[in-house]
Amino acid sequence: MRKKVIAGNWKMNYDLNQSIAFITHLKEEVIKKERNCNIIICPNYVALSEAKKIIKDSPVKLGAQNIYFEDSGAFTGETSADMIKSAGCEYVILGHSERRTIFKESDELINKKIKQALKHDLKPIFCVGETLEERENNITTEVVKKQFEIGLGEISAEQMTNIIIAYEPVWAIGTGKNATPEQAQEVHAYIRNLLTFEYGFQIAENTIIQYGGSVKPENAKDLLSQPDIDGALVGGACLKVESFIGIIESC
Ligand code: PGA
Repeated sequence: MRKKVIAGNWKMNYDLNQSIAFITHLKEEVIKKERNCNIIICPNYVALSEAKKIIKDSPVKLGAQNIYFEDSGAFTGETSADMIKSAGCEYVILGHSERRTIFKESDELINKKIKQALKHDLKPIFCVGETLEERENNITTEVVKKQFEIGLGEISAEQMTNIIIAYEPVWAIGTGKNATPEQAQEVHAYIRNLLTFEYGFQIAENTIIQYGGSVKPENAKDLLSQPDIDGALVGGACLKVESFIGIIESC
């Protein structure tokens, strides 16, 4: 039985003080009762180590939003796997559509980052998903398959046990227009089939596949009740404690 995972992708929001205030409040709300899901927050780099101090002794886990694939060196502006690890991260979001489109990250680059994360004992949250044009051209599964195959190239079955997949249709991200539970379920089941083919039944059964794209308290329950939707990667709605908690409660 897969336990649901709710992750908040803060993107480029909240400075250090705002982050501290937010996480302090979130922790107070989270620990009020036993939660049925695993909870991850992914603030900006500058807030990671303070975040770690605040969430200590709570079920909230920490992730970063990106890493570079080299260990260290002359890569101005980049952050390594070891650096985020030393700040207290267990997870890292990789292959997000904003990285793919705005920062031109290729499937091959994302694959290098996934390998680097795993090498440093970080758990990647690996994002895949089609654009509106691709959906309208009926090539959603081809697009997802290519992202899956190249992104997870040379990843062993054992390594796969440390990876979360997030299906995030690009047209649903930040638009307020979520995929319907049926649309999302269809692609999630397809991804689980890819996992079965590549890694076998057991790994496929155990892998967490999150849905992301305009998840909010109002639609979370319907999405999360689908058999292959194992959690949510939340952008906008994770920036308010009330709405993030609302999504956590719908597990
Ligand atoms: P959204 O973002 O919830 O604001 O649509 C999701 C994401 O980008 O991970």
